[in-house]
Amino acid sequence: MNFELKTLDLTAAASLKTDVLIVLVSAALKPARGSLSELIAQARKSGDLDATSGKILSVWRAAGVSAGRVLLVSTGDGHARQVRQAVAAAVASLKSVAPQSLTLWMEDASEQRVHAATQAVADTSYVYTATKPTAKASALKRVVLGLPTPSQTKAAKADFDHACAQVAGVALAKEWGNRPANHATPSMLAKVAQALGKKPRVRCEVLGPAQIQKLGMGSFAAVAQGSREPMRFIVLHYNGAAKSQAPTVLVGKGITFDTGGISIKPAAGMDEMKFDMCGAASVLGTFEALAQLQPAINVVGLIPTCENMPGGLALKPGDVVTSMSGQTIEVLNTDAEGRLILCDALTYAKRFKPRAVVDIATLTGACVVSLGHVRSGLFSASDELAHALEAAGEAALDPCWRLPLDDEYAEGLKSNFADVANVGGRDGGAITAAKFLQRFAKDYPWAHLDIAGSAWKSGAAKGATGRPVGLLLHYLLGTVPKRQSKATVPQAKSVARRRSPKRLA
Ligand code: BES
Ligand code: MN
Ligand code: ZN
Repeated sequence: MNFELKTLDLTAAASLKTDVLIVLVSAALKPARGSLSELIAQARKSGDLDATSGKILSVWRAAGVSAGRVLLVSTGDGHARQVRQAVAAAVASLKSVAPQSLTLWMEDASEQRVHAATQAVADTSYVYTATKPTAKASALKRVVLGLPTPSQTKAAKADFDHACAQVAGVALAKEWGNRPANHATPSMLAKVAQALGKKPRVRCEVLGPAQIQKLGMGSFAAVAQGSREPMRFIVLHYNGAAKSQAPTVLVGKGITFDTGGISIKPAAGMDEMKFDMCGAASVLGTFEALAQLQPAINVVGLIPTCENMPGGLALKPGDVVTSMSGQTIEVLNTDAEGRLILCDALTYAKRFKPRAVVDIATLTGACVVSLGHVRSGLFSASDELAHALEAAGEAALDPCWRLPLDDEYAEGLKSNFADVANVGGRDGGAITAAKFLQRFAKDYPWAHLDIAGSAWKSGAAKGATGRPVGLLLHYLLGTVPKRQSKATVPQAKSVARRRSPKRLA
């Protein structure tokens, strides 16, 4: 899908060649002269255009309008949330029309509205086809965002570019989140990362079982040992700034399927555990967006990825494993595997002397109980980092909510047989999981996002959401040094980039 930003007043919009013209009509919009303005005025007067946000009036072959179909869509007070909902409703109503081109007109742009509108078009027209050949892919090729004045278009340009990159990143995260576990194995995720590694300023390294063992990642390797699928440790670099600029490290949980292992999960709904790599997918999506935007920052992405399976070789309750940090862990429940793979990645992150580390994981059912499907769980001992992530979530309409990290919550993690146990009690489960991770993230500012409730939807609309790519991208762009938005350092043509990837076991 191709997005384009254009200056269009309502008169110009009326004569634009496009299959569908969507006009966002806020309560504040004052129609002037011209066919579209008249249409809006008449529709309001006759009561056919309800001012309630999300209400749609579809007009076919409107007089004086080139587009075959005009949708007048109410956005109420015009807040970004309303814009998102209204655009989603409008695009959804076009399913049977299957337009190839669409123009979206709004009177008054803002960063949030531009994001909301573009993301809503992309989300609503997304069709999963990878393992469903009978599904019809969206016909939509070209989307124009029209703003009334040149100064508006100019002011919205950077936000628009950001929004387009986010759309691409979210799409990648959704696509890989949705693919079933037999079509999204650790090796396949590594291939996606390697393809990203061919983009400008992105580099990718993939470690296999031998290298992972050699690093001493005994906790990660223990989770992977019950599966026939070989584990991978993916390292992505985005270098948009001088080497001296400390990177932000993103760590994504990449369990491509979580059966629970020997502490096996109940059968009902277990299919949804294919989404247990949505943290990893959000890191891949964020790198896709970074490659497109080329901001002047450095970012490292770390993805430990494997399956969590029962079997003759599988990890057993009570087993004690040694993490890369040297701390031993008593595995009281093999279903608390996310923290076991993340802890080694958090230790590995130290080598980059990061300015901050953010891990993203579908970590606990308890987080879903706490926050439902609206906000991701946020944990951080650093107020500065927490506030920046909270603000990014609000700006991106991809919100999170901070939960506490009092030391008393770690009480239950005590073990008689190792330095720490991998589970506490049932109560406050999202927090105990975060307390476990915190033990491995002492050397840098750290935050943890539990996306168990926000990464996918269940029921009839079952599918990945691509969250929290929006939050992460907003956060990262907020770390760009002032007056230096684009990458300035020359692109590294390192030997490692050109070398063909090693064959891994
Ligand atoms: N991947 C799950 C968390 C999860 C469960 C996400 C349901 C979304 C929906 C994670 O690996 C897990 O199984 N966590 C356990 C931890 C428990 C054993 C302490 C859980 O939440 O039940
Ligand atoms: Mn689990
Ligand atoms: Zn899991």
